[in-house]
Amino acid sequence: MGTPHNMANKGDIAEKVLLPGDPMRAKFIAENFLENPVCYNEVRGMYGFTGTYKGERVSVQGTGMGMPSMHIYASELIREYGAKRLIRVGTCGSLREGIDLKDVVIAMASTTDSGMNKDRFGSISFAPTASFSLLKAAWEKAEELQVKAVVSNIFTSDKFYDDRGNEKNALLASYGVAAVDMETCELYTLALKYGVDALTMLTVSDNLLTGEKCTAEERQTAFLDMIRIALEI
Ligand code: HPA
Repeated sequence: MGTPHNMANKGDIAEKVLLPGDPMRAKFIAENFLENPVCYNEVRGMYGFTGTYKGERVSVQGTGMGMPSMHIYASELIREYGAKRLIRVGTCGSLREGIDLKDVVIAMASTTDSGMNKDRFGSISFAPTASFSLLKAAWEKAEELQVKAVVSNIFTSDKFYDDRGNEKNALLASYGVAAVDMETCELYTLALKYGVDALTMLTVSDNLLTGEKCTAEERQTAFLDMIRIALEI
């Protein structure tokens, strides 16, 4: 039957789902890494595919940008389609010296300026954290594949264009926060709510300290190492 955002039928989506923000990356991952990929969703161009990787059934679903969009896709994947392991594969801006373009950041926890968890928890400041088992597996796989990875708290920001962006980034960097994305806080919160496993892995696409940016081509290549890790864990 599907949902307003996803035309997949129950059973069309695997328990393990990779979640790029960009639906075109979902297509790229499906076409380049999965065997026999089948497209199960085209609603709003937010492509989703299911195929197999080394014999294991895996799906890859675009989530769009920002926490509200992640909220829709991740909620439905978990509640309607039975997803159990959700691995966000995205990009981030680096906030810390020594975390360079193309490095992989594995998010142990997410700090946010979003209102979503203020709305959920009122005066309580909830700490959204990764699945320990996925985090451990990703860390070990990165070592094995000799990919430079950093495990850290990240900042899930509500605004890409923020009047106070520099100020917030500097403050959070001084508390050890490594990088900025826009989705992880909601993914981790939902996974904890529903008792499933979630992990975010991000390749650094821009350095917010120096202003350096990856070219579109570099973004894609750096991305490949991370996808391999996500598929192997
Ligand atoms: N901010 C938020 N999300 C991002 C960024 C950024 O600078 N770069 C890649 N994803």
